[in-house]
Amino acid sequence: MVWRKAIYRKVLIGEFGIRAGDSVAPPNDHGLVIDLLNQDDWHLALENNPYLNEADLARFRNQAATCIVARDGNRIAASTWMLRGGFFVTEVSRELHLRPDTHFSCRSFVASDYRGRALLSHMIHHYAMSIDPDNQITGLVFDWNIPSIRSLERIGWRHRGDYWTTFVLGRAFHHEQHFPPRPPITLSNTES
Ligand SMILES: CC(C)(COP(=O)(O)OP(=O)(O)OC[C@H]1O[C@@H](n2cnc3c(N)ncnc32)[C@H](O)[C@@H]1OP(=O)(O)O)[C@@H](O)C(=O)NCCC(=O)NCCS
Repeated sequence: MVWRKAIYRKVLIGEFGIRAGDSVAPPNDHGLVIDLLNQDDWHLALENNPYLNEADLARFRNQAATCIVARDGNRIAASTWMLRGGFFVTEVSRELHLRPDTHFSCRSFVASDYRGRALLSHMIHHYAMSIDPDNQITGLVFDWNIPSIRSLERIGWRHRGDYWTTFVLGRAFHHEQHFPPRPPITLSNTES
């Protein structure tokens, strides 16, 4: 099995997104402050986000990037990033080049003791309300990451594409497809 994976491996990740102006406000009151972090304070986001590292921050300083946080007093309970331009997606081992009107969401993390308050939904919705409503917001999510898909679908994001890479004897072959927004998989009829 391990030997077979060394010869051939496929990684697929879904593209979800929405027109910013169509973002739907999440329902509950989370009791924290949603804020944009000044670039001088970006390092604070490292403390509570194992999905983020110094190399990310160095890259983000060279492009248009925004860090959205949920604060509980001085503590950053959650953070997420929005990028413009290009971004290397480690999971599928490729650089994505975004259209000028597109904002790419990544490096989202909610501290485990703050989960269940829809903080990811609130942070992304907050950002969506701060940009041109005709701009697009997009992000990549694995199909097994139901908490993430649910967080996005409840603010109106829909599955609209897939990126996948096949690794054959160490060589990467990139593929993508884009399709009309699919019906949500995590919402009940009353929510969608
Ligand atoms: C994804 C993440 C940011 C969401 O955190 P959050 O904002 O606290 O999300 P919530 O817990 O409020 O919402 C998740 C929803 O998924 C639901 N959910 C979780 N596991 C589920 C499952 N197995 N099946 C169905 N629903 C599930 C929860 O019930 C909740 O919905 P509800 O509020 O209607 O009950 C957080 O789980 C996290 O940091 N994960 C690790 C990092 C990560 O995966 N980042 C995203 C990469 S794309």
